[in-house]
Amino acid sequence: VKCRKCGEPAAVNMRQHRFALCGEHFLEWFIAQTERVIEKYRMFARQDRLLVAVSGGKDSLALWDVLLRLGYEVEGLYIDLGIDDEAYSKQSRKHVEQFAAAAGDAPYRVLDVKATYGKSVPELALEKRGRKVCSLCGLVKRHVMNRLAYEGEYVAVATGHNLDDEAAVLFQNTLHWQTGYLARQAPVLPSTVPRLARKVKPFFRFYERDTAAYAVLRGIDYIYEECPYSKGATTIFYKELLNQLETRSRGAKQQFYLSFLQAREEQGLFGEETQELELSECQNCGQPTTASGLCAFCRLWEDR
Ligand code: AMP
Ligand code: FES
Ligand code: ZN
Ligand code: ZN
Repeated sequence: VKCRKCGEPAAVNMRQHRFALCGEHFLEWFIAQTERVIEKYRMFARQDRLLVAVSGGKDSLALWDVLLRLGYEVEGLYIDLGIDDEAYSKQSRKHVEQFAAAAGDAPYRVLDVKATYGKSVPELALEKRGRKVCSLCGLVKRHVMNRLAYEGEYVAVATGHNLDDEAAVLFQNTLHWQTGYLARQAPVLPSTVPRLARKVKPFFRFYERDTAAYAVLRGIDYIYEECPYSKGATTIFYKELLNQLETRSRGAKQQFYLSFLQAREEQGLFGEETQELELSECQNCGQPTTASGLCAFCRLWEDR
């Protein structure tokens, strides 16, 4: 297989797009494609201050790299969840630090959950028996990202979610016909109320395989291991299923997710679900919540 641009041997074959590129042209294409997505979906503008949530994994480090190269005003945010198994959080953090240093001291901040709130996420899970670490972790991450975006007056929080991530979530939501979630799953989540951060996913059209290729070709040193608590997670299983489907029918993953967005846009699919959720302010932290009184995050830390 040859590079579509220069005819040299290809390094990355994107079967879903029916073309292949050499390393150099792939890197170029990947960056240009990200910029197109940012503009097409009006995610943010040149002068906007952005927070990019970085986990130390390939997607978010690649995203940080691309945003820096495109000249956006971006700052990294690493949330240290205190996951001690195989020193996971410490290792992830090291990858973030190393990336920032290699990128010429790219600015970033670290929020240490235990130092800030008194307990790491696994400690919290132990205390709340019956609650899964990963779901608590998701709740904590969402709260922290939202709070720091608001306090720091950032225009948006960018995350490294790729097409495989989005398609797996869509598959899960569809299997259970969670119409509320289906109405709201999107590459851009606008800030509908004052303390709610705008959330954007500039990589949502890339296959995971391609974000990995970008990170490798760029020489980004990322953490390969998945979170130790995600072993056996259903989203991982759904990703495998979708990959099987992809093997049979190339482009199927992409088709599944992009056609969903299109159908919702053009045919008003789940339109009846899209009326704004009733949000009130948490009595403790002030963040928007569907609960009355305390938000789900603040409820975690009370009555111990
Ligand atoms: P995940 O839920 O682990 O698939 O991660 C999805 C996205 O959330 C990543 O691409 C990052 O942008 C962000 N993220 C995940 N974990 C962290 C973390 N510990 N600190 C900051 N951002 C994170
Ligand atoms: Fe955070 Fe699993 S505990 S991703
Ligand atoms: Zn080429
Ligand atoms: Zn709260």
